[in-house]
Amino acid sequence: MANKNPFIVITGASAGIGAACAEAFSRQNSRLILGARRTQTLEQQKAKLLELGAHSVDCISLDVSQDQSSNNFCEEVLQLTQGNIDALINNAGLAIGTDHLSKGDLSEWQTVIDTNITGVLRVTRGLLPAMIESKSGHLFFLSSIAAHQVYEGGSVYCATKHAVKALAKTLKLELNGTGIRVTTIDPGMVETEFSVVRFRGNQSKADQTYAGMTPLTAKDIAECVQFAYQRPQHLNIDEMILMPTDQATVYKVHRR
Ligand SMILES: NC(=O)c1ccc[n+]([C@@H]2O[C@H](COP(=O)([O-])OP(=O)(O)OC[C@H]3O[C@@H](n4cnc5c(N)ncnc54)[C@H](OP(=O)(O)O)[C@@H]3O)[C@@H](O)[C@H]2O)c1
Repeated sequence: MANKNPFIVITGASAGIGAACAEAFSRQNSRLILGARRTQTLEQQKAKLLELGAHSVDCISLDVSQDQSSNNFCEEVLQLTQGNIDALINNAGLAIGTDHLSKGDLSEWQTVIDTNITGVLRVTRGLLPAMIESKSGHLFFLSSIAAHQVYEGGSVYCATKHAVKALAKTLKLELNGTGIRVTTIDPGMVETEFSVVRFRGNQSKADQTYAGMTPLTAKDIAECVQFAYQRPQHLNIDEMILMPTDQATVYKVHRR
């Protein structure tokens, strides 16, 4: 029987898909625990989330690329939930630049790897033992179509998402028999702050990414996360690949 006021932990909840997940799970009267570096932005969302139906909203500073910040976050989550985590949505992530590997910037790669791979590991390592002990919970990994395909200029980002996919698949094996569900969510193009970050703040370049086509919205993805969560306990959706109708592959995009 599903928890009436589930504890839902979301990393990277200050924007895009994470923020949309917070809204979706508010409507389910969840007890939300939200992490991101921009805590002020998280706090600004709180009133709306409570209005939508959230039972409670706790906003915690989190930089998944840092050990100390991730440890503090996990400690606070464990205190708030008493170890009863219904879902951990590993969503925080980013891409920086579209440079070919031969021209890439080592410190930018380090940030992407530290966020998308080690960040996911830090938070999952911090919270998973409690989930195993309580024999319940649902792990979500925001991966990408970049876990299935690669593209020029995407070497490191694609490598991190391939890594996330491998981690999730390994966890499926290691957690078999614990009752914990593991789902990867693999979207194609979703219009969020993602491209603004990728193009280092250049809004017009970010806008060009979606020119003439209809991208997915953060809400589309959040609804799919929620759908997977709401299936009965015996049903695990391993993987969801979510593409805009206008996008066939990373390269083939129909533009009007
Ligand atoms: N948009 C797409 O087309 C797309 C497609 C496939 C997969 N994805 C994946 O979906 C996830 C969410 O992306 P999005 O599209 O929603 O992008 P977004 O709008 O840029 O949001 C990214 C979120 O991650 C947080 N974040 C970034 N670095 C962080 C860090 N070091 N510590 C904690 N939080 C951090 C940001 O918050 P702060 O800046 O406040 O920390 C923000 O809340 C990512 O993993 C991304 O790779 C996106």
